[in-house]
Amino acid sequence: MQIVRSIPQMQAVKYPEAAQVGFVPTMGYLHEGHLSLVDAAAKNCDLVVVSIFVNPAQFGPSEDLDSYPQDFERDLALLQKRKVDYVFFPTAEEVYPPGYKTWVEVEDISRILCGISRPEHFKGVSTIVLKLLNIARPHFMYMGQKDFQQLTLLRRMALDLNLSVSIVGCPIVREADGLAKSSRNIYLKGDQREQARCLYKALTHSQELVRVGERSAGKIIAAAEKILSDNQAKVDYVKIVDSRDLSETQEVDECSRMLIAAWVGKPRLIDNISLKA
Ligand code: PAJ
Repeated sequence: MQIVRSIPQMQAVKYPEAAQVGFVPTMGYLHEGHLSLVDAAAKNCDLVVVSIFVNPAQFGPSEDLDSYPQDFERDLALLQKRKVDYVFFPTAEEVYPPGYKTWVEVEDISRILCGISRPEHFKGVSTIVLKLLNIARPHFMYMGQKDFQQLTLLRRMALDLNLSVSIVGCPIVREADGLAKSSRNIYLKGDQREQARCLYKALTHSQELVRVGERSAGKIIAAAEKILSDNQAKVDYVKIVDSRDLSETQEVDECSRMLIAAWVGKPRLIDNISLKA
């Protein structure tokens, strides 16, 4: 496993002609969710590149950039146990040098759902991911469905900008009690960890309502919101959307997905599930 710190060094890596390169972009502080992406890449590709970069451009002014958890040595130890060929670990100074001016924005998708409470977030995400793709030049990029809006937005970007990468969406990895794994779960203190289960409870309850025949998005959302508020979570949004373009749905069908964002104390958590009946 080779650690690459500089952009020119990563760009200069020569992949064997026939090698299929899989790429997993991350912000580090790796957990089983990230590692499931690495494993999927390792299974399906000849070479695996993982990037670790806490991207300042996707954090708002009052967000947790300064306290975002980091442990590069621990991340490396975890990656060393997998089939990883390159770990790309650039500095913010090199990624965004003085005079940096170019941003990628995926219209509409960047402005809904999480884009409402995080107005600059997705501009930062699409820009860094396009830069990382240009630098790492993979054939496949592995991403989690945990960040479903991010995945949909990047698929749109790849289509609109004629990128030659194929994006592979991978299932959400959860704790034993259903809480979606997240680097930010360490912020959950005391009772908050137990309360945080309510996102998954609300999602699985919604799935159950669909299974027994309910199709009204309004009714399903109301029931999910009640589960969240009964558990002291403050709802940012609960929506049922068409999983292909994130447009809001009134009547649940086989493409419907429920997306939730809620604060449990200070931490803001997101999760989602397919409502396929
Ligand atoms: P980060 O939050 O570190 O997540 C990196 C990748 O891991 C994303 O594709 C995310 O969806 C996936 N992931 C996180 N938790 C997961 C879980 N519980 N199950 C499955 N996959 C999970 O997302 C980002 O970083 C950044 O926005 C990034 C794309 C790297 C751009 O900076």
